[in-house]
Amino acid sequence: MGESLRGLKRTHMCGEFNEKNIGESITVMGWVQRKRNLGGLVFVDLRDRTGILQAVFGEEINKEAFAKADLVKSEYCVAITGELVRRQSPNPNLPTGMVELKGLDIKILSESETPPIYIKEDLDAAENIRLKYRYLDLRRPDMQKIFMIRSKTAKVVREFLNDNGFIEVDTPIMTKSTPEGARDYLVPSRNYPGMFYALPQSPQIFKQLLMVSGFDRYFQIAKCFRDEDLRANRQPEFTQVDLEMSFVEEDDVIEVNEELIKKVFKEILDVDVALPISRMPYSEAMNKYGSDKPDLRFGMEIHDITSVVENCDFAVFKKAIEGSGSVRAIKVENSADMGRKKIDKLGEFVKTYKAKGLAWIAYKEEEIKSPIAKFLKEEEMNGILKEMDARKGDLILIIADSKNSVVLQTLGALRLELAKQLEILKDSKEFNFTWVTEFPLLSYNEEEQRYQAEHHPFTMPMDEDIEYLDTDPSRVRAKAYDLVLNGEELGGGSIRIHNTSLQQKMFEVLGFSEEDAWERFGFLLEAFKFGPPPHGGLAFGFDRLIMFLSGTDNIKDVIAFPKNQNAFCPLTEAPNLVDTKQLFDLGINVNNHDEK
Ligand code: AMO
Ligand code: AMP
Repeated sequence: MGESLRGLKRTHMCGEFNEKNIGESITVMGWVQRKRNLGGLVFVDLRDRTGILQAVFGEEINKEAFAKADLVKSEYCVAITGELVRRQSPNPNLPTGMVELKGLDIKILSESETPPIYIKEDLDAAENIRLKYRYLDLRRPDMQKIFMIRSKTAKVVREFLNDNGFIEVDTPIMTKSTPEGARDYLVPSRNYPGMFYALPQSPQIFKQLLMVSGFDRYFQIAKCFRDEDLRANRQPEFTQVDLEMSFVEEDDVIEVNEELIKKVFKEILDVDVALPISRMPYSEAMNKYGSDKPDLRFGMEIHDITSVVENCDFAVFKKAIEGSGSVRAIKVENSADMGRKKIDKLGEFVKTYKAKGLAWIAYKEEEIKSPIAKFLKEEEMNGILKEMDARKGDLILIIADSKNSVVLQTLGALRLELAKQLEILKDSKEFNFTWVTEFPLLSYNEEEQRYQAEHHPFTMPMDEDIEYLDTDPSRVRAKAYDLVLNGEELGGGSIRIHNTSLQQKMFEVLGFSEEDAWERFGFLLEAFKFGPPPHGGLAFGFDRLIMFLSGTDNIKDVIAFPKNQNAFCPLTEAPNLVDTKQLFDLGINVNNHDEK
């Protein structure tokens, strides 16, 4: 059964009623959340995207409607016409709980099988089932709320950027590889067998070309594609709020984006973001928090205790220091009584970050307990306690390694792990923003024995560091900035090189031959011959922004039809095998066509 509307019009949405509407004749349409038959009365809770309204049908009210109402089941799609009345037994938990609909007619627009997932908030169903039946999962009110936030945020972003002179321009999806560091998704060409388009990892090069064209300020809510290992905050196909500006320096880009963020948080959450947002050089972020995206909602900063222990008798510390590494520590307040088992577990945890061990000092009420106490002179132990500003009851965790990066990254990870274990942030409602600036321009790839761009090869070095590009590339800092929120990278950008010879120099440092560079990015180098303006920009991860605004820690919740952890879509079952004829047209021979 599935009736047509035959001229019937919806007059209201379910969630918008209150006592003022009592006495009105209405027609609502939606899905049956629940039906109860209490003998002489049938109650139908009707749901649409605005909420739930209870309708009541009775033999005395309308016999025909009563009989029909009794036929409906959960998730039937129906239209109900009737009169809004005061509810006999009000339900204060429901926004429409003071009223109900006296049902005079009900049309069953379509029936529903029993859904494989329950349509309710806080559903606890297996992810693959949710994704396979995503259209049902998206019927759930908490999911609908997220997509309303997403839509409203896009509107606020567009309004703000339009009001500030940014022009929205679409850039191609079928394009040439952009070097953002991940693997490309490729699209085979039929016209040029054996050749491929790449899906853009970001609109980076095109937005720079738009600056050469004189657009001055560009933005796009852009789809980006990266074939990389997926995590809770990464999807292969995601969205950026991407923008670029001409005739600007770092401060100009940062200021506009701070205003944008302020506006978004105000309009969506009514949260006031205090401006200016603090800034922290990369080196400070690494030294204090062991991360280029520090979570500043809690302390537990890293302290360097190398100079305190450099003459101690502990071979591990000595070796680390001799190998030009360091010894550093964090202080966990009021945790001196942490059990041995827990500490041993942390000792295992640090090994996943390549640290060789974890030393600890428990500053207990009555004594100091530590497996390394025997190697430390009294003044060394006191020196550590002093450097750490330790009080009785505190636990100090120490890592030594001949590689500073191992020491810092391990303590950074340990800090976050402890915050999780000790539930330090459990009730935090804080949004703690910071800009991380002065990133290294390059990092050395040990495997490939060459330098690679930390951000991308178009990033401008800091003026005072350009001279080291030849002699000491790893010391060169970039005019790059990331916006970090609660320990997540929300966005990142930079001032770009706008000078052909410096751009060529960058390619050279990155190990591209001149030929390679022209082969891959010749069109950009060519464009730079024609008066490119100084320019820079930034891109926010739009999905990550929505995660914060909707309070979820899973990126899949904010993407309507996401891929699972294996980059597979359980709903459409993409990627899938294609017809041999399609492959033939594309000139593609697939090795494992039969194996799958
Ligand atoms: P970047 O590579 O830092 O910069 O990306 C910008 C922002 O995009 C988000 N992001 C992702 N979100 C979800 N899934 C992913 N796989 C993913 N990868 C990145 C992050 C990140 O901060 N073209 C430059 C920007 C510029 O220089 O203007 C760029 O793409 O939130
Ligand atoms: P040992 O003398 O080998 O029992 O080590 C004493 C303590 O030093 C143990 O708690 C080890 O976990 C710790 N330790 C070992 N290697 C390191 C290291 N690289 N950094 C910090 N502590 C370490």
